[in-house]
Amino acid sequence: MSFNTFGHLFRVTTFGESHGAAIGCVVDGCPPRIPLAAADIQRDLDRRRPGQSRFTTQRREPDTVRILSGVFVDEASGQEVTTGTPIALVIENVDQRSKDYADIKDKYRPGHAGYTYDAKYGLHDYRGGGRASARETAARVAAGAIARKIVPGMNVRAALIQMGPHQVDRTRWDWAEVTNNPFFSPDPALVPVLEQFLDDVRRRGSSVGAVIEVVAESVPAGLGAPVYGKLDSDIAAALMGINAVKGVEIGDGFATAAMSGEENADEMRMGNDRRPRFLSNHAGGILGGISTGQDIVARFAVKPTSSILVPRRTVDRYGNETEIVTKGRHDPCVGIRAVPIGEAMMACVLADHYLRQRGQVGPAVEWPFAKPGQ
Ligand SMILES: Cc1cc2nc3c(=O)[nH]c(=O)nc-3n(C[C@H](O)[C@H](O)[C@H](O)COP(=O)(O)O)c2cc1C
Repeated sequence: MSFNTFGHLFRVTTFGESHGAAIGCVVDGCPPRIPLAAADIQRDLDRRRPGQSRFTTQRREPDTVRILSGVFVDEASGQEVTTGTPIALVIENVDQRSKDYADIKDKYRPGHAGYTYDAKYGLHDYRGGGRASARETAARVAAGAIARKIVPGMNVRAALIQMGPHQVDRTRWDWAEVTNNPFFSPDPALVPVLEQFLDDVRRRGSSVGAVIEVVAESVPAGLGAPVYGKLDSDIAAALMGINAVKGVEIGDGFATAAMSGEENADEMRMGNDRRPRFLSNHAGGILGGISTGQDIVARFAVKPTSSILVPRRTVDRYGNETEIVTKGRHDPCVGIRAVPIGEAMMACVLADHYLRQRGQVGPAVEWPFAKPGQ
């Protein structure tokens, strides 16, 4: 009833608030005997961590993860492996500054969740946004690091493709560049433009939105379910569930509305590997709610940070009209740190569907079929 859990067979429950003692998650349903060390998870957490450049919040959180349960040393390899029991992960909160929120504790930040939490629960933890804070997404990134290990050979990566009016030039797309700049931009020429743009946004005490593209490679065909467990609907729900996300598209998404049937058709030929070879991927790797074996491609739009220094009109908890200016340490563009979060949510959904497919169907279907009578 309280919806802090997602997934069916790969099941993630997160807990914690921004200014509480710790955040974390329990990952249940992870198969046994998968090598798992805290360092595997830390790698992804370090990519989401705040304070790594002047373009993200200056909150200083080391986000050090501890594995509390669900792993054991495998005698044969000497490695820590999963045991098949719940994996509990905890990340302590060490850099809270609750006093930053004292001035606005009774005022609602337009675009933030204070009013809706009050309307629903009759109270809200105003310190750093409480449960609505993106601190919670560290737990998702930790779970995603485990999920990445479940689908053999799968690679999930993401990049920021637009910030405000500035878009990447796809002819310059280079995945290797994504790790070389503070924006996760795959287009090196866009980096100086974004630096100047975001410095200006920050100087004005404002904020800006962004679009992130997530690509999952080497996902086998057949994951998903035809009607109520469509792979695309589950991916959309997972990405939409990230804080500040206001739009999701799969494949060509909204652009398909302007296409003709022949433009949109992903034509098929036979590949040398006796698998179908699609001549394009407008569908984003999913047809009928089921993966095609092509790359799964999704994009999500993140709104501008609501905590800004520019005064905005609002009301307080006692029904008075007032104004608000949100000081403290905030991301001028939350889309930057949303990149590893998008990867994690995609990995969790694909791990869950991989286990569901294995549970229902077993080993992969042999394709192409032998023609009856031959
Ligand atoms: C990585 C990330 C960082 C964020 N940082 C901030 C922040 O510094 N300040 C802020 O007001 N909102 C921040 N947000 C957005 C809020 O968490 C979010 O807007 C709020 O919970 C309301 O939910 P909604 O925007 O999904 O409706 C961040 C979101 C993400 C994904």
